[in-house]
Amino acid sequence: MTIELRPARSLSIAERVALFNAAYEDYVIPSRLDESTLQGMIDWFDLDVDASRIALRDGEPVGFGNLGLRRDQAWIGGVGVVTSARRQGIGELLMQALHDEAAARSVKQVWLEVIEQNDAAYRLYEKLGYDLVRWVEVWTLPTESSRPSLEVPVEQAHARIRELRAEHEPWQRSDATLAHYADARGIETDEGAAILRVNRVTGAAQVVQIAGEPRELLQAVRSYGNVVILNLPAGDPVGEAMRELGGAVTVRQREMVLDLSSRG
Ligand SMILES: CC(C)(COP(=O)(O)OP(=O)(O)OC[C@H]1O[C@@H](n2cnc3c(N)ncnc32)[C@H](O)[C@@H]1OP(=O)(O)O)[C@@H](O)C(=O)NCCC(=O)NCCS
Repeated sequence: MTIELRPARSLSIAERVALFNAAYEDYVIPSRLDESTLQGMIDWFDLDVDASRIALRDGEPVGFGNLGLRRDQAWIGGVGVVTSARRQGIGELLMQALHDEAAARSVKQVWLEVIEQNDAAYRLYEKLGYDLVRWVEVWTLPTESSRPSLEVPVEQAHARIRELRAEHEPWQRSDATLAHYADARGIETDEGAAILRVNRVTGAAQVVQIAGEPRELLQAVRSYGNVVILNLPAGDPVGEAMRELGGAVTVRQREMVLDLSSRG
């Protein structure tokens, strides 16, 4: 048996989608990608197809690891091994290859999120030296219509958020991600601001960023669709407001980081 790692670019996007779906077939949350969603992830989250890796066992693709790169910061945008090839060290090899690629590009920190129930992945990341940064939560809240529009230009809402926010944004809702969204919309009140996107397929109103007094903002976001907030820090006042309005946590994740700065 031979295991070989190659850049993700050596597979077509259709082959990478098939590999992702095979490796995630028993994932904690049912997850299936199509080509446009994978291409979206590559664009929005700066996944680098040269630095990302696929693993081949005797020439057959059996695993992948996606690396997002933004200056001296990196993010693991999914790692997976097909069930028949697990517990043979391939996940660890893939992660180490991503760390090497990141270090070669002078990356200082590698970030990731791992769902609470995903013990196998959590143990892998612990073994590799990742530390817990904070818990983050995915929130949802059903839509409710006919609220007054609070829309303002995205740049205006974003300037307000930058003044008001207290914590760093997770990778998928960061300023660099926002810069890739052509369809982002801003809303503002006297006490805060938010940026959202309406998902054309699901109709969900995804909150990209939010800061300040949340209640009125969330009521306004609701008028666009079912509200989804990805990776809100646990204990954030926005979560309390979501709960008061009838929202709920659907997923809890650990945000973790690996410090590469000492690797030189
Ligand atoms: C997580 C995943 C990528 C691990 O891949 P893998 O090739 O089986 O992992 P490895 O064989 O390289 O294991 C390396 C280490 O991870 C840990 N680990 C991996 N699977 C584990 C399991 N099922 N239970 C406990 N620890 C596990 C162990 O520490 C292991 O080291 P050890 O063999 O010395 O005990 C794989 O389980 C997977 O694809 N899961 C579905 C997709 C997924 O959850 N991706 C992560 C999203 S955050």
